[in-house]
Amino acid sequence: MSAPLYSIPGSSAPTAAAPAAGAAAEPVARTVSEVLAQSQVEEVLAELERDLIGLAPVKQRIRDIAALLVIDKLRAQHGLSASAPSLHMCFTGNPGTGKTTVAMRMAEILHRLGYVRKGHLVAVTRDDLVGQYIGHTAPKTKEVLKKAMGGVLFIDEAYYLYRPENERDYGQEAIEILLQVMENQRDDLVVILAGYKDRMDTFFQSNPGMSSRIAHHLDFPDYATPELLQIGDRMIESSHYRFGAGAREAFDAYLQRRIAQPHFANARSVRNALDRARLRQASRLYADRDRVLSADDLSTITASDILASRVFSKDADKETP
Ligand SMILES: Nc1ncnc2c1ncn2[C@@H]1O[C@H](COP(=O)(O)OP(=O)(O)OP(=O)(O)O)[C@@H](O)[C@H]1O
Ligand SMILES: [Mg+2]
Repeated sequence: MSAPLYSIPGSSAPTAAAPAAGAAAEPVARTVSEVLAQSQVEEVLAELERDLIGLAPVKQRIRDIAALLVIDKLRAQHGLSASAPSLHMCFTGNPGTGKTTVAMRMAEILHRLGYVRKGHLVAVTRDDLVGQYIGHTAPKTKEVLKKAMGGVLFIDEAYYLYRPENERDYGQEAIEILLQVMENQRDDLVVILAGYKDRMDTFFQSNPGMSSRIAHHLDFPDYATPELLQIGDRMIESSHYRFGAGAREAFDAYLQRRIAQPHFANARSVRNALDRARLRQASRLYADRDRVLSADDLSTITASDILASRVFSKDADKETP
């Protein structure tokens, strides 16, 4: 059986070494430093290091991938060309562990190092790729691929593409198109599959073709409370709030309770908890109609804003993720 060969337009990727048409001819980079300086990739790597708490193994893998691409550029200048390395990836981990955030940074790094032309991220799930009726899946999948060309296609909960219980499931059609494009146009599109580790493992067992095209498996561990607290510090700081007296300790206590409850979603739960604390702060300040509010008043989250959370009450398990 010979499947039709899909080719998605828009991928006339220049080789990594060729300057973009019309760009002023840059001096040829001959050292790692020169490649790093020209591509400005170090800024993104530094940002990743700075902005993301924990995730040491993930950060290391990203640095390794960046190193590979830098060396590839230098090799190309000596005529040591090789086929573009396969960079399709799989990000496994529980909700809120940073998969989408890292994928966006990854897209930027791949772009700066000339691996993909645009560096945007298109995030999809099964419903964006698979149609309800016969004949609908191929056009849907191809449309998504067209949008993602030149960047990263991020498929969240990718295992839902495969439904073994349903013999005539259209997901299989989407998988087949993806496989071809992942193979033939890998110099201009990186596919990242994301989801829970155990389900992804099962998916790969049933889809060896997909498994063999994934070059990098990155596992995102759950955060421990101290990391969650640091993540909270970053979020508070970047939105120009601060913890008042005792509030950070209250938030620490909050996290220790929240982590043990259902639907806990790591950093996402931290963000949601802080959003609710902001709501409580606003209501508290709003109630005081005639007070002149200083910048300090307006930016302080007090211990009471945290302690009013339901995790400290009897209905604790009703807290939303
Ligand atoms: N290590 C981290 N340091 C700081 N902030 C983080 C970290 N990990 C995640 N976040 C923040 O937590 C939120 C959730 O992260 P993200 O959406 O990347 O997680 P996810 O793994 O894709 O989750 P989901 O599976 O629910 O889609 C984002 O606001 C992100 O900025
Ligand atoms: Mg996500």
